[in-house]
Amino acid sequence: MKEFHWKDAVPLIESLIVKAGEGNVPVEVGSVPTELQCIGIGTDAAVFVHSASSRYAFKVYAEGLEKKRINEERAYQKLSGSSYYPIFYGSGERFIVISFESGIHLYDCLITGTYISPEVIEQVDKAVEEARLAGLNPRDIHLKNIILQGRTIKLIDVSEYVKPGNDERWEHLKEGYRLYYPLIASKKVSPKFLDFVKEQYEKQKLAGFSAKRFGRLLLPFVKKKEPES
Ligand SMILES: Nc1ncnc2c1ncn2[C@@H]1O[C@H](COP(=O)(O)OP(=O)(O)O)[C@@H](O)[C@H]1O
Ligand SMILES: [Mg+2]
Repeated sequence: MKEFHWKDAVPLIESLIVKAGEGNVPVEVGSVPTELQCIGIGTDAAVFVHSASSRYAFKVYAEGLEKKRINEERAYQKLSGSSYYPIFYGSGERFIVISFESGIHLYDCLITGTYISPEVIEQVDKAVEEARLAGLNPRDIHLKNIILQGRTIKLIDVSEYVKPGNDERWEHLKEGYRLYYPLIASKKVSPKFLDFVKEQYEKQKLAGFSAKRFGRLLLPFVKKKEPES
């Protein structure tokens, strides 16, 4: 039998309807053919895997976001020498094809109580450094864009790396990890609480963010860690 090539999936990928909502909300996806599985939803795109091969992930951008596709493709081309990013295989007008990366992102690590070690943080720092060396400006690094794969990590969602400026998300996350992760390490955090944290972060970011002040606001909601028995 002929081996599956990502180009075989193009007609199905092009039949997908993906729409962006108002503001920073997840995209909406129309009906999905049985051969495809939606494995992730972001605010710009939805990501699919074809049943014939788990090697490829198809990131399909919402209508009108072709610029994001162009930016992301440019960034992936520059990142081809780094093992911290997916492999870029090709693209069409509304989608890119990259390697499917197994594992769970750090947001799901918090929800499932999967331990996030200091080595994870160090590796993200290395990935950021490699992107800088490749002439990019790493941005938009948040919990859902970091995939934990056993002892290593992959960074995804690089469309903003070609833009100037620093959104400081990664610096804030690191500071939060250093100050407060010991209180919740390996414990399950409720999605409701994480939504609350995100909402508060978006508010405080506008007025000059301080991880310490932010933590003081959230601490009353975090129960003290039970002593080890
Ligand atoms: N290469 C990949 N392998 C596995 N899962 C992926 C991959 N790319 C994206 N995802 C999943 O899809 C979600 C949305 O993709 P992302 O590139 O972050 O879209 P957006 O630019 O809209 O934020 C991610 O949070 C992740 O769960
Ligand atoms: Mg994303």
